[in-house]
Amino acid sequence: MSRGLRKGLTSYGDAGFSLFLRKAFIKAMGYSDDALERPIVGIADTRSDYNPCHGNASTLIEAAKRGVMLAGAMPMVFPTVSIHESFAHPTSMFLRNLMAIDTEEMIRAQPMDAVVAIGGCDKTLPAQIMAAISVDLPTVVVPVGPMVVGHHQGEVLGACTDCRRLWAAHRAGTIDAAEIETVSGRLAPSVGTCMVMGTASTMACIAEALGLALPMAASIPAPHAERVRLAEASGKRAAEIAKTGGPRPSELVTPASLRNAIAVLQAIGGSTNGVIHLCAIARRAGIPLALEEFDRIGRDVPVLVDLKPSGAHYMEHFHHAGGMPRLLAELGSAIDRAAPSVAGGTLGDIADGCERVRGQDAIRPRAQPIKPEGSIAVLRGNLAPDGAVIKHAAATPALLRHTGRAVAFDSVEDLARRIDLDDLDVAAGDILVLRNAGPKGAPGMPEAGYLPIPRKLARRGVKDMVRISDARMSGTAFGTIVLHIAPEAAIGGPLALVRSGDRIDLDVPARRIELLVEKAELERRGKALRAAAVPERGYARLYHQTVTQADLGCDFDFMLPPGARP
Ligand code: FES
Repeated sequence: MSRGLRKGLTSYGDAGFSLFLRKAFIKAMGYSDDALERPIVGIADTRSDYNPCHGNASTLIEAAKRGVMLAGAMPMVFPTVSIHESFAHPTSMFLRNLMAIDTEEMIRAQPMDAVVAIGGCDKTLPAQIMAAISVDLPTVVVPVGPMVVGHHQGEVLGACTDCRRLWAAHRAGTIDAAEIETVSGRLAPSVGTCMVMGTASTMACIAEALGLALPMAASIPAPHAERVRLAEASGKRAAEIAKTGGPRPSELVTPASLRNAIAVLQAIGGSTNGVIHLCAIARRAGIPLALEEFDRIGRDVPVLVDLKPSGAHYMEHFHHAGGMPRLLAELGSAIDRAAPSVAGGTLGDIADGCERVRGQDAIRPRAQPIKPEGSIAVLRGNLAPDGAVIKHAAATPALLRHTGRAVAFDSVEDLARRIDLDDLDVAAGDILVLRNAGPKGAPGMPEAGYLPIPRKLARRGVKDMVRISDARMSGTAFGTIVLHIAPEAAIGGPLALVRSGDRIDLDVPARRIELLVEKAELERRGKALRAAAVPERGYARLYHQTVTQADLGCDFDFMLPPGARP
């Protein structure tokens, strides 16, 4: 197979001319023949003025280039789509698959022998990993790293768990407009990704667990010099695997490494978004991953990492406690130690090499867990025939078995319009239901599953209620919240049939969620349902027509290998 600059020549019907032309153009940049004969490491550049989480990417790119050159290869930086949570309309999830396609096709189209993928904000690492699996070129993932913590009035702040907590306090009237404005300048005190165990941190840990990133890549704070050295080392390693041709993602993403990733997801109290992304990653690799695998592993693997939103600490504390290598060591037999890492060697080698930090309390031993079970459970029942998830580690224990009256909202807009009305018929024991917020419904499955507590109840001190939806929830949020109900309401899932006043039974220990309405009545309601409108053109139409449901990872069906399509 052709390597370096000779790879993937543009079609002019004359390969010699194609190479001649390519060289002629690239020499305009001042490259020497020596440089152009080297193996090429492509570096995916996700810098964007709209993406503050990637604000250190320039420094990381320079370091990765240095590493590539130190190892005798040629770095070439190329831009891809970049997505930031707060700057993506309608949602970042709507754009994840676009970024995955863009990244895949740019890797395929341009000559490179290995890839350094620099990403981090929630959907970016999943998109890059999905692309890497589909291309199957040797790849090293370099997360941009978490922010350092913020401080306000003697309190430590973390985006975005404390964004939500303090905004809820503002809604309840205990923080005034001036103070919440001050807080907005302190929640994100540096570049980098959210520093709680949100989706970005979860996916960075998963990248390490899958063996796609070097040890400690998930946790080194974004502004630290150590992160720059990690980028250099990643560039160096990418140059080595560009020469040897492996390991490739297909050698790293296997049933065993996926089980390792799920064990890590459960042990870190990770984001529920991690379930969707891992389902997508697995299917890209042609591995059908059932939701029950998350539940099965979660019953054995306890929560060991004490990070917000389900615990007390932040990513920098996880890092100083020994990071992922230490966690892998504590997980012991829950991890397949033979799984290989792009670093060379196995996950077992990485666990054995972990730093034993004295006195740390961010990573617990398996015998003294934060919670005896993993953080995420999978529910089924007549309300979720294809599954739903709940992060029970971040829920109110008393609500994990609860029967209540439904208060239903037809859409995110309906929710926004009515949730704070004084005459909303709602009580603390009710169950808030949001529908038409799934992959096709909203579209893009917004992180609207963290339904706000109705203002009149919040003012009375109600902090949590059972909330259920076909939406997602930010990994930084918390509460007794059932998410990802599949099939979604917009394609006629049972959630579409719920009416305010119906009774719903949630039983997390039994992994059940049931709508307590007669079957005949549900059938009668089902006949009255109307199909959701299909967008007229463009990406929105492609998305609507091809996106899969949450239990399958919300990938586009045509991006999956033929055997893995629904
Ligand atoms: Fe980028 Fe949270 S907004 S990781």
